[in-house]
Amino acid sequence: MTKIFRAALTILVVITFVYSVLITANEVSSSLGVVSSRSELASQAGIQALEQGGNAIDAAVATAFTLAVTYPAAGNLGGGGFMVVYLADGSSYALDFREMAPAAATRDMFLDENGDYDSERALRSRMSSGVPGSVAGLLAAQDKLGKLDRQAVLAEAIRLAENGFQLPDDIAKRIRDRRDVWLRSEGSKQVFLKLDNEEYLDYNASELFVQTDLATTLKRISKEGTKGFYEGETADLIVAEMQRGNGLISHGDLKRYTSVWREPVHGTYRDYQIISMPPPSSGGVLLVQMLNMLERFDVGELGFGTLATMHLMSEVERRAYADRATHLGDSDFYPVPIDELIDKKYASKRMGNFTPDKASKSATIEAGTVSVESLETTHLSVIDHEGNAVALTTTLNSGYGNGYVVEGAGFLLNNEMDDFSAKPGEPNQFGLVGAEANAIVPRKRMLSSMTPTIVVNKEEDYLLVTGSPGGSTIITTVLQVVVNSIDHKMTLYDAVASPRFHHQWLSDRITLELQGFDPEIIDDLRSLGHETVNRTTIGDANSAQKIGNMIIGVSDPRNEGRAVGLENTQNSQ
Ligand code: DON
Repeated sequence: MTKIFRAALTILVVITFVYSVLITANEVSSSLGVVSSRSELASQAGIQALEQGGNAIDAAVATAFTLAVTYPAAGNLGGGGFMVVYLADGSSYALDFREMAPAAATRDMFLDENGDYDSERALRSRMSSGVPGSVAGLLAAQDKLGKLDRQAVLAEAIRLAENGFQLPDDIAKRIRDRRDVWLRSEGSKQVFLKLDNEEYLDYNASELFVQTDLATTLKRISKEGTKGFYEGETADLIVAEMQRGNGLISHGDLKRYTSVWREPVHGTYRDYQIISMPPPSSGGVLLVQMLNMLERFDVGELGFGTLATMHLMSEVERRAYADRATHLGDSDFYPVPIDELIDKKYASKRMGNFTPDKASKSATIEAGTVSVESLETTHLSVIDHEGNAVALTTTLNSGYGNGYVVEGAGFLLNNEMDDFSAKPGEPNQFGLVGAEANAIVPRKRMLSSMTPTIVVNKEEDYLLVTGSPGGSTIITTVLQVVVNSIDHKMTLYDAVASPRFHHQWLSDRITLELQGFDPEIIDDLRSLGHETVNRTTIGDANSAQKIGNMIIGVSDPRNEGRAVGLENTQNSQ
């Protein structure tokens, strides 16, 4: 072997290694099942559930409970979420475990003496917490559709909370960045800072992060089920935390909380079935509505990232988000015209004033007339070997919720009450406006943008499972993953990794990821009358796909998540 040949071989091996390290962080394939989430440890907990004979639901529930330990920015016990399930037998389910307004909530609770929106109260006080739904929801899903027992799906979360895990760099940094938030309350100090000689020190990357109180709470849930959270010791600790400030959640609110099985939103897009989340999420309705508006155009032919496609999609998004502001809210409290909004004829009427060569002005686009949405959230996708699939999005609303850990119980509280419309027309933290449909009412669920979604084509034995965090940008992120897959025929990796943009009616502008779009096309969009702004990244769409026997998991390369496959894992791409 000549020196040159050996040198070439060495370079090749190094390149192959670097490449495989880079790509394995984000993509995996297996015929036995995959779990894709924002935390490698959480994805592995899901895979363990599959190894123990569990199905996609067991895996999703184990992953979600583990995210509460390993990804406290959004994984949670003190928040809520939504789950969309598609079973291999063709049945589908939507589970709403969204937080609820406490009984003592009042319509104007986030307005100050002058009647102005008080963001401190709405986002950074104990009053910003809705009654948590995650524990009820995860246990209900597992009980109805899972195969393992409760103890099995909680075991890994308990182990990681009790024994600790090494803090990844990015999470250690984000916890350090919030030092001031933790110092506001005893519960938060105890979890996110280390007491050393009467001094509170920061955690560093790779340090062991042990959460003893959280482990105890998880054990109570494992032993007693929902009673271990909504009653007894945990409930007492939550109410005591409320009473240290202006919190409203009472024992009665906790005891009465239930998750709700709802009829999923069903739509079609070309040859594909769309299954997504109904109210109190606006996600499924808007997704189907936007796909209906796009269906009349040959988006594949128009091309990815072209002026025509970006203009068209922005106009579609503008119209759908105008509808969101007026028509969407908790359907248990407000007559949301779901059927009408997802009707294909309605979509065609809505696009009646679309002009291919000129941006509309949001001031002139009103909600459609019918008869009658850092910051964190996290999404996980699972497909098992039988073809059962789960899309689960869960959140505390803002990153680390309102920053208050329930003292003695070890988990953070949400600030989801800010997702209500505090005052008609007043933008919330995502710039979303709303009105009557989403006004604060006791025991009502605040409108969400979370869009856990499953796309099915039975003939092609095809499944796409996706969803994302990102507040108002969640719905358009999901829309783009779907359109990239179906119209632009991209691989799952490309569908997830491709650059994203977003329009939400108000503010009247397109938000674009900094990297990836052709600057000339952006100039062209401006000449059509669109205003544009840049953002570093939009969304975190941990997704999974099944085509025949091949199951692929992709974690969004924008973040540090990981897709893990069962056993016969092989690197792909
Ligand atoms: O339910 C909602 O729409 C919001 N509370 C989601 C918050 C969110 O995605 C923050 N993340 N980036």
